[in-house]
Amino acid sequence: MTTDVHPLDLTRSLHSDTARLRAAGPAVRVELPGGVIAWSVTRYEKLRELTEDGRLSRDAQQHWPGLADVPESWPLTPFLIQPSVLNAYGADHRRLRGIMDTAFTADRLAKLADNLGDRLPTLLVAFGAPGSGRIIDIRQDFAQVIAAETLCDLFGIPKEQWHEARQAMLELLNPSSEPETAAVQLKNATDLLAGLISSKQQAPGSDLATILSQDPSLTDEERVLALVVTIAGGLPAPTDLITNAVVNLLSNPAQLTALLDGAVEWSEAVEETLRFDSPVQHMPLRYAVHDIDLGDGVVIRRGDPVIMGFGAGGRDPQVHGDTAETFDVHRLNKAHVALGHGVHYCIGAPLGLLTARLALAALFQHFPHLKLAEPVDAMSPLPTFIFNGKTRVPVLL
Ligand code: HEM
Repeated sequence: MTTDVHPLDLTRSLHSDTARLRAAGPAVRVELPGGVIAWSVTRYEKLRELTEDGRLSRDAQQHWPGLADVPESWPLTPFLIQPSVLNAYGADHRRLRGIMDTAFTADRLAKLADNLGDRLPTLLVAFGAPGSGRIIDIRQDFAQVIAAETLCDLFGIPKEQWHEARQAMLELLNPSSEPETAAVQLKNATDLLAGLISSKQQAPGSDLATILSQDPSLTDEERVLALVVTIAGGLPAPTDLITNAVVNLLSNPAQLTALLDGAVEWSEAVEETLRFDSPVQHMPLRYAVHDIDLGDGVVIRRGDPVIMGFGAGGRDPQVHGDTAETFDVHRLNKAHVALGHGVHYCIGAPLGLLTARLALAALFQHFPHLKLAEPVDAMSPLPTFIFNGKTRVPVLL
């Protein structure tokens, strides 16, 4: 069993693919796009166990000998080698995480939530009247705007630059396939972030960029990378969390009615979406610092890469039984690992959950008769094995 290599089949639903991997063993070898072989972990208990295990590192430079064999053009390489909190190990991770944690206080969260609450009505009114017959893309026109603006607010970007900053963030995450254009986009985004850091050195505010700009232990590169990794974590996942929740609620109108009537809290819809339709499906990569024996004849060897199937954990029948594959905001046990677990547990989790809860409540209270404008099966999945979502979700107001 340990020597089989399973393809990651991107043409099938990510969920049926991970169900196949979960059934095959506590960890199974998969071939990632680009030909890299990694261990895939998709069972809930193993995901929790291994994210708590100090024998797995996220530091490719230090703990992945196979990095030398990966072609430089492999699209994941920059993401894996950036020396940010996400790819740091041990004391280095504790240092970077400790600094960034100070930006996510309860007071700052409350302020960000208040500001979002103030912006939401204007955004919703601009879409037009309920029943106007207009169609919007809930992902790009709503969820993505909210996620990006919340980051602008967290970073302390002046409001008049939010539009430009949102564009730069999107280009940073999805650069042009044309290398020269991509290089310009990368430079624009990093210049904008470096400029923000230096402006906070002159005129401090109460935001993440100020905290980073004032910490003397950080290098300038680490300051910018802390913002880059916050964009990578804080833009796509909340976008897909809000979008996937809208898709599931519009596909289950009785559950939406229970939310609108106040019989179920909006936070339950957010948790059930994380369990059933997690925005982060697979998180690359971790590397074994020592051999790890998982039982059932499976041994992850020192230096082997491991990919965490965080999205699969919430659908594990060992935890959720026969109803694991059913979206149900009423279920009591919504256990999942969609936000990770252990030392790399999502730093933005409280902010992301609050943002999604406020966005969904405001959207459905403003447009209680919202409808999907296309069948869900006709919507294209995102062309990636990392994120789980749809490229666009047209809805009729
Ligand atoms: C609400 C939807 C979100 C989901 C589903 C999500 C998912 C995750 C997951 C699964 C991890 C763990 C990665 C690992 O262990 O390999 C993670 C880490 C991280 N997330 Fe999130 N995230 C969300 C929101 C956010 C937000 C709003 C931010 C920033 C404002 C953010 C920033 C980060 C950062 C910086 C890390 C790395 C933490 C570390 O390595 O110590 N995330 N996220």
